[in-house]
Amino acid sequence: MRFDGKVGLVTGAGSGIGRATALGFAQRGGAVAVVDINGDNASRVAAEIAAGGGKAIAIVADVTRAADLEMMFARTTGEFGRLDFLHNNAFGFAPMPDVSPIAATADTDDRMWNATLDVGLTAVFRAIKLAVPIMRSQGAGSIVNTASISGLYADYGIVAYNAAKAGVVNLTRVAAIEYARMGIRVNCICPGAIDTPLLSGAAQPAMIEKFREIIPMGRLGRPEEMANVILFLASDLASFVTGSAYVADGGQTAKTGSPSFIPE
Ligand SMILES: NC(=O)c1ccc[n+]([C@@H]2O[C@H](COP(=O)([O-])OP(=O)(O)OC[C@H]3O[C@@H](n4cnc5c(N)ncnc54)[C@H](O)[C@@H]3O)[C@@H](O)[C@H]2O)c1
Repeated sequence: MRFDGKVGLVTGAGSGIGRATALGFAQRGGAVAVVDINGDNASRVAAEIAAGGGKAIAIVADVTRAADLEMMFARTTGEFGRLDFLHNNAFGFAPMPDVSPIAATADTDDRMWNATLDVGLTAVFRAIKLAVPIMRSQGAGSIVNTASISGLYADYGIVAYNAAKAGVVNLTRVAAIEYARMGIRVNCICPGAIDTPLLSGAAQPAMIEKFREIIPMGRLGRPEEMANVILFLASDLASFVTGSAYVADGGQTAKTGSPSFIPE
């Protein structure tokens, strides 16, 4: 799997899954725009790529700001001349000092709801709108959105996240069918529990331990394991794959949730 001559843009690339995807894309020959709201982290990842002999630029952008989205595409095409791969991946839970960020549906504050939908869904919609004309003019392109198993099934306490990620799954399908005949493939990945700052920030250590118990593989996923799937979907190896929601969760959602029939 190589990306020589290809250009990618990864949002939320300063950390976790996005960082692993940007590094993996660059290690396989692609040039990559490392986009993050956290400028220090974006610069660090771009420097890491350059130190390994790869091509990268760091772009500081808040994906909830329409002007920042326009700027990140303009800078990427200005620097590298094209766009072959877009990874819509950035996400952060909204800081809510006066309300618990994790609350039952009826307790969820409107601001929390709106902030989550803004970064988790609207930003993805807007970025697709900006990427499509570029990819269309090239006659090809691949978009991979980071959804979640939380977009396929329900969790307790993170209703806005579940709704945003479910939106990403179906937005992916719509974009996939609408642009299929223009050479643009659109897929999403549905990670389970992955060992990143996002998860450790939202889940207490006891909850992380619980994840290890309920995941059939007995461990959290690693960001690189998500990047491998994302890069496969981005690559020509996935040339007949579009509109898919690719689950990578160590078997978590393969279960019915019923108690075991195997005698103890
Ligand atoms: N970690 C998990 O268990 C898990 C599971 C399922 C899905 N996901 C999804 O994976 C994606 C990546 O998350 P991660 O786990 O790697 O987390 P992470 O916190 O390591 O990385 C997320 C990155 O997004 C950036 N970001 C946040 N808000 C932004 C904004 N407005 N504009 C630009 N950048 C912004 C952050 O600065 C951070 O660098 C997210 O979409 C998340 O919902 C994660």
